[in-house]
Amino acid sequence: MSTAKRRRWHIPASVTATTTFNPIRSIVDRMKITPNPEKQMIALSIGDPSVFGNLTPCDEMVEAVVKCAKEFKHNGYAPSTGYVETRKAIAVEHSYPFSPLTYKDVVLACGCSGALELALDVLLNPGDNVLLPKPGFSIYQTLSISRGHEVRHYNLMPDRSWEVDLDHLESLIDDRTKAIVVNNPSNPCGSVYSKEHLEAILEVAERYMLPIISDEVYEYAVFPGHKFYPLAQLSENVPILTCGGISKRYLVPGWRLGWVLIYDKNQAFESEVKPGLIALSQQILGPNTLVQGALPAILANTPSSFFENTMQVIQKNAEICYEALLRIPELKPIMPCGAMYMMVGIDIPKLDGILDDLDFTEKLISEQSVFCLPGKCFQYPNFFRIVLTVPEAMTEMACKRINEFCKNHRKSDS
Ligand SMILES: Cc1ncc(COP(=O)(O)O)c(C=O)c1O
Repeated sequence: MSTAKRRRWHIPASVTATTTFNPIRSIVDRMKITPNPEKQMIALSIGDPSVFGNLTPCDEMVEAVVKCAKEFKHNGYAPSTGYVETRKAIAVEHSYPFSPLTYKDVVLACGCSGALELALDVLLNPGDNVLLPKPGFSIYQTLSISRGHEVRHYNLMPDRSWEVDLDHLESLIDDRTKAIVVNNPSNPCGSVYSKEHLEAILEVAERYMLPIISDEVYEYAVFPGHKFYPLAQLSENVPILTCGGISKRYLVPGWRLGWVLIYDKNQAFESEVKPGLIALSQQILGPNTLVQGALPAILANTPSSFFENTMQVIQKNAEICYEALLRIPELKPIMPCGAMYMMVGIDIPKLDGILDDLDFTEKLISEQSVFCLPGKCFQYPNFFRIVLTVPEAMTEMACKRINEFCKNHRKSDS
């Protein structure tokens, strides 16, 4: 049609826009969120540790940003991959004896989300498929589907601390599989994989010669007695793009600083993927330059007590929830080992007037003013997710109300 023939305004949105779908947003936006006016709302739904004011960045972090702002050295455009000093500091922190990095192996991005976007964009074409964890964080799917990638979900096993069902993972692989996404520690499960399990995942990837995108935005966020193993530290041959950032561990998701780390012992990424990441970084510049400038000092000066305090708050909340919810016959909490979440199974048939996890969470809001995300947001029905970064008193109150809710819906014959 020639432009002269256009007689009315009709502006279609692009395929990218119309196929962009964030399950959390679309479910939450359609949820009936009408709290009980007699009870104050408790939101255990938002994976943002800063919202309640009980967890704040430490003085060393704030001072580093203030110093940068006062120096007037970081007000211009940074290189597309980030300042060399910042990338060097990240490379040093993430180098392991057999998996060293230089600053050239680090590309900065706008949060871990931006890093995941770069990683998926560099590895997949439309029609290729990527293997994602189920339950899993929804952004992988959101990014992939709008780009025409096929997403294939591999099962995690709740009764085995959310380990990957390796047979299922393997059964999904075909010629158009281009990457496996692994998320450890996990949102929404709070699982932390053992060395042996990570090695078993690597073994599958190696056999099929598939690279791994390892989402480690919760790196080292583990409860005492558990150990975090960076996947790249264990990989002998599998090339890995590790995506991370300061959002969660440093309690500043709004600062939007993330990174892709290129671990590539066998130069599998060298000729195409590495230049590809650099090219993609040139589309839109990465994180805010003040935060980039402050990062080396943040990494060097943040005391270990800061991380320990955060994990103490999270673990305490996990214990409170686990003990309280385990006593409720209709619920099955699964104790996390890290990150900041707990998944809780719901025995729907045992509850009167509850259709599914969405109905459960909607009614929990309208009757008890407690807001948890339904498992559907993570492709995992019959569960709900609890965020564990809220003040302890709120967690206790929320558990009491969940108990009351289940009692009120308990079938008389159960
Ligand atoms: C597993 C996981 N990966 C990535 C992200 C995104 O992190 P960022 O806020 O740094 O973009 C989140 C945020 O909740 C997450 O839970």
